[in-house]
Amino acid sequence: MEADRLNSPSTSVITFEVLGHQLQFSQDPNSKHLGTTVWDTSMVFAKFLEKNCRKGRFCPSKLKGKRVVELGAGCGVAGFGMALLGCDVVSTDQIEVVPLLRRNVERNTSRIMQMNSNSDSFGSIQVAELDWGNEDHIKAVAPPFDYIIGTDVVYAEHLLGPLLQTIIALSGSKTTILLGHEIRSTSVHEQMLQTWKNLFEVKIVPKAKMDSKYQHPSIQIFIMGLKPPAVVAEKADNAVSTEKLDRKTQGIDQQVNEVETNKRGPDKEENCGISSDIDDLDGEIIKKNCLPLTRLPDGKLSEWEARRYGSMAARLLRDIKIT
Ligand SMILES: C[S@@+](CC[C@H](N)C(=O)[O-])C[C@H]1O[C@@H](n2cnc3c(N)ncnc32)[C@H](O)[C@@H]1O
Repeated sequence: MEADRLNSPSTSVITFEVLGHQLQFSQDPNSKHLGTTVWDTSMVFAKFLEKNCRKGRFCPSKLKGKRVVELGAGCGVAGFGMALLGCDVVSTDQIEVVPLLRRNVERNTSRIMQMNSNSDSFGSIQVAELDWGNEDHIKAVAPPFDYIIGTDVVYAEHLLGPLLQTIIALSGSKTTILLGHEIRSTSVHEQMLQTWKNLFEVKIVPKAKMDSKYQHPSIQIFIMGLKPPAVVAEKADNAVSTEKLDRKTQGIDQQVNEVETNKRGPDKEENCGISSDIDDLDGEIIKKNCLPLTRLPDGKLSEWEARRYGSMAARLLRDIKIT
């Protein structure tokens, strides 16, 4: 995972402009913890909100006062996207990440509040420790939420079960789940998608709905809602309440195992391996919506393009074995 890091080891602050604000996120790419780095998907997610906030479900008039929990928040970028649109966000992560997350939340909140004219629609952000699967942590944030969000939180098979279990425990019948994901491992991705499709109604956001710059063929955003309780109960071993976390784990683990033995990948789209028939935000079917890999402009590389090229190079280098 170390080689997959997207920032240079010397980058201690990321400046990110979104929804009319210049946010600054401190990070520590040299730490051993993944959560102390800003991951690209979080920026794609926040810019996706920016692009789609003029009408529809992401406009501030619809989001004002909605309760949001961010899982595996890291430096907190995605949560700020929702808070800038009026949501009351609880940004959560493991205890080791909480101090940096809290620093980023406090610093950016005071920057936003100082910009009087532009801070009217800002909701709020709180920070809390939430280790996936921990019943006390889940109860402490007072579910259910209107939205559960997370970016780059699925990167290893063993995390799928606890993450799903937590999402279900934090959900109510009207909860919307927004997850951003960068495909790094096809097997983890396929397993994740199949498991989600069993439990949730899944829509994949078309690239046309994302910011024209902040996107990449390997980064996807999913909009999901829990299937009716009967289906979830059947699929997840009848375990959706926080009192039954142990049974729920068994149910989800069973799901994960079923997928593992019964692997059927998602429908492949030419060149970029994402679903060929995907719903756009309003339910319209969009086909073959695959952009070419990042293009070089005539002049200098933008910061985003440099990040993406850095990421690709890191991956290539990881694959080259010097003998
Ligand atoms: C790849 S980082 C992504 C961070 C951030 N969401 C972003 O996009 O920049 C994965 C995050 O998941 C968190 N995470 C991993 N396992 C977790 C667990 N069991 N409980 C809570 N958070 C976890 C990590 O601490 C880390 O912040």
